[in-house]
Amino acid sequence: SEDELHERIRNTKKALGDKLVILGHFYQRDEVVQYADFVGDSFQLANAALTKPDAETIVFCGVHFMAETADILARPEQRVILPNLAAGCSMADMADEDSVESAWEDLMELYGDEPDADGRQPVIPVTYMNSSAALKAFCGRHGGIVCTSSNASTVLEWAFERGQRVLFFPDQHLGRNTAKAMGIGLDQMPMWNPRKPLGGNTEEVLRDAKVLLWHGFCSVHKRFTVDQIEQARAEHPGVRVIVHPECPMPVVDAADESGSTDYIRKAIEGGRPGDVFAIGTEINMVNRLQAEHPEMTIFCLDPVICPCSTMYRIHPGYLAWTLDGLLEGEVRNQIVVADDVATDAKVALERMLAALP
Ligand code: 13P
Ligand code: SF4
Repeated sequence: SEDELHERIRNTKKALGDKLVILGHFYQRDEVVQYADFVGDSFQLANAALTKPDAETIVFCGVHFMAETADILARPEQRVILPNLAAGCSMADMADEDSVESAWEDLMELYGDEPDADGRQPVIPVTYMNSSAALKAFCGRHGGIVCTSSNASTVLEWAFERGQRVLFFPDQHLGRNTAKAMGIGLDQMPMWNPRKPLGGNTEEVLRDAKVLLWHGFCSVHKRFTVDQIEQARAEHPGVRVIVHPECPMPVVDAADESGSTDYIRKAIEGGRPGDVFAIGTEINMVNRLQAEHPEMTIFCLDPVICPCSTMYRIHPGYLAWTLDGLLEGEVRNQIVVADDVATDAKVALERMLAALP
C-alpha cells in the first residue's frame, strides 16, 4: 500500500543516515519533496551536492541533466543516483552533440577561428544547464560556459567580454529573453535550425548576428500565453504576474517579472497577506507555494494542469526501490559521466561559478 511504501522510504532514509543526501527540484511532486534534504532550483541543487561531502550517495530527485551535473561536481568517492532513468528533459534532448559540433564547424568556416583586435573570439558557446554533460564538455573545450535561468545575463556578459557572438543552446526562449533585456536587437539573434544549412540563415544575417539561438524550447513553458496574463489581470486586479524565462518572449514581456524557480519562490515569500500572484511555471511548484502560503492567492496561469511529465517520472516507488538497493549494498540507477567528459564539462561549470558576483 501507499502507507507501507512511505514507511519503507522513511525507515531506509533513517538507516542510511548521513551517508545519504536526497536532493529535490522544485518541480517534484510533494510525495517526493517531503524526503528531500534540499529543495531548490537547478543551480542551488548543483551546489547542494557539494555541501554534503560526507554523503556517499546523492539521490537526485530531478531530471537526468541535473544528476549528471551533480556527478561532475561531486567528489570522486560520491555516487549519484537518479531514481528513474527515464526522467529526462525534452528540451535538453533538442540539442545533441553531433548537431552542435556540425553547427560549430559551419560557424568556424564562416567566421574563421582567429580572435579580433581586442582578443575576442569569433563565437563563444553558451549552454543552458538543461543540456547533456557532452554539451557542457563541448563548451569547456571551446572557451564556452554554462548558465542557469538564475544567472543567464551575468553569463552572457562574461561571454561578450570574450567573444564577438554567442551560440546559445538549447533554449531559444531563455537566450532571446536574456539577450533582449541586454539591449540586443531581435534582428541580431537569428535562430539556428540544425536541420538546415547555415542553420537556415543567409551569410549576411549571420555576419550581423550577436546571439545565435538554437531551436530548442520547453514544452511546459511554451504553453503560457499573453491571453492567460490578460485574463488573470481582468479577474484579479492588482495581481502580480511572474513567469519563468523559458516562456516565449511575448509572455515574458507581458508579465510583471520573470525569473528562475528560486526567484519565483523568493518573490512569493516576500509577499504580504492578501497578495495575489499568477505564476507561469510548472504546476507542482505553484500548488506547493499556494499550500505553504494560505494567506495569499497563488495560481498557475495555465488553467489546464501543466506538470513537467519527465520530472513526474520520479515516483516514490522508484525512490523506495533505489534506497532499498543501497541498504542491500546494491547501487541502482547510478549516473556516471565518463572522466574525459566530466573534466571538460567541469571547466565550463567552473567558469560559470567564477563569473558570478
Ligand atoms: P530552474 O533553473 O529555474 O530550476 O529551472 C530548471 C528547469 O528545468 C525549468 O524548466
Ligand atoms: Fe525540461 Fe521543461 Fe521539464 Fe524543465 S520543465 S525539466 S525544461 S521539460
